[in-house]
Amino acid sequence: LLGAVSAIALMMSAGQALADCDDGEIVIKFSHVTADSGHPKGDAARAIAERINKDMNGKACMEVYPSSTLFDDDKVMEALLLGDVQVAAPSLSKFEAYTKKYRLFDLPFLFSNMESVNRFTQGPVGQELLGAIEDKGYTGLGYVYNGLKHFSANKPLMLPTDAHGLKFRVQTSDVAVAMIEAMDASAQKLAFKEVYGALQTGVVDGQENTWSNIYKQKFFEVQDGITETNHQLLTYLAITSTEWLDSLPQDVREQFVTIFAEEVTAANAKAEEINEKAKEGILAAGGTIRQLTPEERREWVETMRPVWDQFEDDIGKDVIAAAVDANS
Ligand code: LMR
Repeated sequence: LLGAVSAIALMMSAGQALADCDDGEIVIKFSHVTADSGHPKGDAARAIAERINKDMNGKACMEVYPSSTLFDDDKVMEALLLGDVQVAAPSLSKFEAYTKKYRLFDLPFLFSNMESVNRFTQGPVGQELLGAIEDKGYTGLGYVYNGLKHFSANKPLMLPTDAHGLKFRVQTSDVAVAMIEAMDASAQKLAFKEVYGALQTGVVDGQENTWSNIYKQKFFEVQDGITETNHQLLTYLAITSTEWLDSLPQDVREQFVTIFAEEVTAANAKAEEINEKAKEGILAAGGTIRQLTPEERREWVETMRPVWDQFEDDIGKDVIAAAVDANS
């Protein structure tokens, strides 16, 4: 019995949040890279798994593997097609190799707040974009929100000129690279799990992320401070392999897709609150957060806004216009 108990403890510590699959159930593995709780994606994944494991008991079950315990965001794309996992939710910034359409979501200062993001993603253009990677064998199950991002560095950043010559970690996004270069800084693409170490050892000087990621990954511990820039969106696309989805019995498929959509909607409504709590957590742990004056903010916008023109042809003028419209 002791052996069994410690085996379960080991599984839990390896991040297998909810692994209660029984014989004969269809196993749905959900692999992601962030914290498994107190985080918009971690909490969403747990809620989806809990609901599936309750409502689909006997038919299907979900196991969640958080914190890059199974795959990072690059590898998980292949793992989905190979059938090693069934669900992943990489950020929209990580689909560079699959479509150029999602470059939209990385345009700096595109969305003014999460209400605008919600209006756009749930509207006709946002819903159509869910299908942009269908030709690569993936089905989009829904947008899972995190929030807007902020810059941190090993020195105070009040104006974009303060970033001159610094090196920032970015996701695998060419828009992010262009944005950093617009500040006369350099960008390095790194996997999420490598960011803390890279900041700590000085491989990079700064990074940009949401409150929940900065807090849960403890980036604030190895940075001078964070500037509340709200400059870019971090949102995920929950995806599965179309071949796997089509292989499910119709009733199982329909129930899975319905539960997934309902739980994502419920989780998305909590994302802002989770990020606010994480911001408070950073302050409580002694982290420094700096606010911009309206004039300072204007400088950031003016520096980064030209990046839009570089990617307009890939994204489509009409798509950009629809996203801008969602702000009003
Ligand atoms: C990042 O790499 O910074 C994020 O995409 C990680 C995440 O999943 O929130």
